[in-house]
Amino acid sequence: MPVAENALRLILIGPPGSGKGTQALQLCGRYNIGHVSTGDILRRNTQKGTSLGKHAEEFLQAGDLVPDPLIFDMLEDLYNRAGGEQQGFVLDGFPRSESQARALSDFLEGRSQSIHKVLLLQLDDDVIVGRLIHRRTCPKCGRSYHLQASPPQQAGVCDSDGSTLVWRPDDHEEVIRNRLDTYHQQTQPVAAYYAQKGVLSSIDASSPISTITERITRLVDPLVSSV
Ligand code: AP5
Repeated sequence: MPVAENALRLILIGPPGSGKGTQALQLCGRYNIGHVSTGDILRRNTQKGTSLGKHAEEFLQAGDLVPDPLIFDMLEDLYNRAGGEQQGFVLDGFPRSESQARALSDFLEGRSQSIHKVLLLQLDDDVIVGRLIHRRTCPKCGRSYHLQASPPQQAGVCDSDGSTLVWRPDDHEEVIRNRLDTYHQQTQPVAAYYAQKGVLSSIDASSPISTITERITRLVDPLVSSV
């Protein structure tokens, strides 16, 4: 059944560096929905030195998944940050394991809600390593740059807000390789879980950003009612 565009509930899954964050920003602008990235929330918590941040830090640095109990404790907060009952959302980086996917389904079922579409971004591991080694990120607004393909106007400085760009500790090759192993072992089964529910679509994420956005919107637009 068609839904109002600002009530859409979407999930982006894909390996590290496949463009989840980049496409999430496009989607929340186009459909006027909330955006939640568990990776961004966890990084912010480590920067602030919160209890969550202190517990999560070693897993982020190693490129391992943060244990489920910590993620489950965040679920209600994630939902509220994303817009909760008021609007739809795009989840970026969650769920990341079959147990997380089941917990999300139970949580939403308790609110008579479900996920409308899960978009799986697919990209070869070697392309990913090339993207992430050269990525620099703005710690304030989250904008990311590629040192060769899309560098900032002034080296090391965010074009949007002038903050000093950072090289994420997990964007070094050894950690990237572990993040990829973690993805293949623990996150890929999430795609099968949503395929079984009939809401999964796969997208080749090796094209330019705007082409991928077009592919995604061709899949999502038909779900939207005109009211
Ligand atoms: P998280 O922050 O979610 O990292 P990730 O999944 O590894 O994804 P990235 O943010 O690295 O990449 P992306 O797919 O968003 O790509 P982006 O758009 O930036 O998680 C980090 C860590 O947090 C995890 O390792 C784990 O420890 C923990 N964590 C998070 N969620 C968790 C959970 N639910 N459970 C347990 N632990 C959790 O693009 C990448 C680069 O490519 C950018 O430079 C971009 O400009 C460029 N780019 C994007 N699209 C294109 C394109 N089409 N062509 C060329 N370049 C492109």
